[in-house]
Amino acid sequence: MGLRKVYRVKRREVLALDGVDLHVRQGEIFGVVGQSGAGKSTLLRCVNLLERPTAGSVAVDGEELTALGGARLRAARRGIGMVHQHFALLSSRTVAANVAFPLEIAGIARAERRRRVGELLDLVGLADKAGAYPAQLSGGQKQRVGIARALASRPKVLLSDEATSALDPATTASILELLRDLNRELGLTILLITHEMDVIKRICDSAAIMESGAFTESGRVLDLLATPGSLLARSLFPLPGTGLPDDTVALTYTRAYDEPLMSELTRRFDVDVNVLGGAVEEVSGVSVGRLNVQISGANRDAALDYLSGKGLLVEVAGR
Ligand SMILES: Nc1ncnc2c1ncn2[C@@H]1O[C@H](COP(=O)(O)OP(=O)(O)O)[C@@H](O)[C@H]1O
Ligand SMILES: [Mg+2]
Repeated sequence: MGLRKVYRVKRREVLALDGVDLHVRQGEIFGVVGQSGAGKSTLLRCVNLLERPTAGSVAVDGEELTALGGARLRAARRGIGMVHQHFALLSSRTVAANVAFPLEIAGIARAERRRRVGELLDLVGLADKAGAYPAQLSGGQKQRVGIARALASRPKVLLSDEATSALDPATTASILELLRDLNRELGLTILLITHEMDVIKRICDSAAIMESGAFTESGRVLDLLATPGSLLARSLFPLPGTGLPDDTVALTYTRAYDEPLMSELTRRFDVDVNVLGGAVEEVSGVSVGRLNVQISGANRDAALDYLSGKGLLVEVAGR
C-alpha cells in the first residue's frame, strides 16, 4: 500500500514506484500490464522484499513483511514463490536437483525432499524429465521447472515476472493453462506482470495498467470491461478500426440476453439496426460478446441509452 521506490544511482534518483496501491484477493490471479520501464519488476521485488520499498507497506496473508527482518522475514518469504522470465535454473544441476534446491536450503531431509520433488514434477507434467539437465529442455519445459521450484516450499502466493515472455505462442498458452490449473487446484494466489494484453485476457481475474511507476487503472477484468473509457477494456477489445463507418457503435456484453434486444430496439425506438460484425471471446472464464452495429433514426440516442441501461457497454467509434 502506498508503495514508493526510489533507486539511487550515483547522484541520480530514479523514481520507479510512485504510490502504488495494490490489493490482490486471496485465490485470484492478478495481472499487472505495462510497458518496459513502467516499474513492474520493481513492484514484484518490493512485494517479496527483495527490494525494500522507500515508503509504504507490504502485507502478505495478513502479515506485514515491511515490519519484519532477519529470520522472520526469511520465513515469511518462503510463503511467496517467484517465477522468472529467463527461468534462472542452475545449469549444472538436473531438473530434480533444481527443484530440490530450495528444499535443501530450508534443511528438509533427503527422503522427504525426494518425495516432494516427485510430487512437484508430477504437478507440472515433467515426471519423465527428473534426470535431464536444463540445456536438454525446451523453453516451456524450463519454465515448468521454474514453476515447480517456486512451489517447493508450498507458498500461498506466486509472483511471476514475465514468465511467458521468452516463449512462443503455443508454449505461452500451455504455461498460462498450467498457472490457471495451479490457481484452481491449490488455491494459489498469483500476482503476475506482463507486457502482453493477451495474458490478462486469458487467465487474469483482476488487472491493473501500470505507467511510470503508478497504476492508471485497476479492478476486476469483468468490471473494467463494463467501464466506459477503460483503456484496459479498449485494449482487450479494440474499437472497430479502419474500414468501418464513422457511426459504428461497439456493444460489449458479458452475459447472454434472453430478450431479443435488437428487434426490441427497432420496435421501441423506431430505429434501423445494421449489424456489421461480431465475435464472442472468453475473458476470465466468461464469454464476452462484442457486436459492431450501425443504428440510425431520430431516436438513436435514446436507443443507445436503453442499451446502456440494459448493462451493455456502448462505445461509439470516433468519440
Ligand atoms: N536496480 C536498479 N537500480 C536503478 N534503477 C533501476 C533498478 N531497477 C530498475 N530501475 C529503474 O526503475 C524503473 C522501473 O524498472 P522496472 O521495475 O525494471 O520496470 P519494468 O519491469 O516495468 O520494465 C526503470 O526506469 C529502471 O531503469
Ligand atoms: Mg521487468
